Amino acid sequence: MGKVVSNVQVAEQVYLLRVEGNYEGSMGQFYMLRAWGHYPLLSRPISIFNKDDESIEFLYQVVGEGTTLLASLRPEDTIQLDGPYGNGFPIPEGRVALIGGGIGIAPLYYVAQQMTHTDIYLGFSKEAYLQDAFREVTSSLHINVGGYIVDDVDFEQYDTIMACGPHMMMRAVQTKYLQSNRQAKVYISLENRMACGIGACLVCSVSCLDGRKKACTDGPVFEAQEVTFHD
Ligand SMILES: Cc1cc2nc3c(=O)[nH]c(=O)nc-3n(C[C@H](O)[C@H](O)[C@H](O)COP(=O)(O)OP(=O)(O)OC[C@H]3O[C@@H](n4cnc5c(N)ncnc54)[C@H](O)[C@@H]3O)c2cc1C
Ligand code: FES
Repeated sequence: MGKVVSNVQVAEQVYLLRVEGNYEGSMGQFYMLRAWGHYPLLSRPISIFNKDDESIEFLYQVVGEGTTLLASLRPEDTIQLDGPYGNGFPIPEGRVALIGGGIGIAPLYYVAQQMTHTDIYLGFSKEAYLQDAFREVTSSLHINVGGYIVDDVDFEQYDTIMACGPHMMMRAVQTKYLQSNRQAKVYISLENRMACGIGACLVCSVSCLDGRKKACTDGPVFEAQEVTFHD
């Protein structure tokens, strides 16, 4: 059990939760969060936004029951964190771009913290948030509100591209990668619905060129070309 240090609203329906403790975890991994008793039954997967020796942070958007309960947490409340889970982003090589869409910016902040330089592209549908935090970890921040952030990225300028965002956006990243000279290694993080988070239930199944994989244990990070997107 962890103790909540703070749970601050940073935009409409978006909160930054800090929990006390020295937690493990690498870029792109996630924890299963639970701050309630028996209902809802399932814990909720949330990516590592940031961490240090004393605390771990999660950036989350309120969309339903679980995240509404998370938003009600106050300092000193307790929360259960199981993890870290998942196969996250690899150590990137060469010139690196990070592309985040909406709440998909969450895992990219921790990536940017680990790197000396990354070009960061963030897209939002209505309102941009945490620009100042991202500006502290890069001198190259591009923000797009209301458009398509993937259109702003020249894939041929990079050796490694890491992306996280809505399904349609990850599909657009894949399409752009396939239309590029494919020099860059492109990774997409999929935020599929999950139940167990540990490979036991198959709820998070992802269709890939070489068969079905599990977003929780094989992913959430996949190479862009290996996923087969369906409408
Ligand atoms: C590996 C991983 C990392 C994630 N990291 C983050 C993060 O850092 N921050 C964050 O805000 N969210 C993240 N998510 C998504 C988050 O887990 C869901 O938004 C959350 O579980 C919804 O729980 P809920 O009880 O509030 O909503 P529910 O009541 O379960 O659902 C409410 C609505 O949200 C939709 N929904 C539920 N889960 C998802 C999902 N995974 N993707 C898209 N739509 C969903 C439902 O279809 C429904 O319409 C991540 C998901 C995964 C798999
Ligand atoms: S969430 Fe259960 S197998 Fe992935």
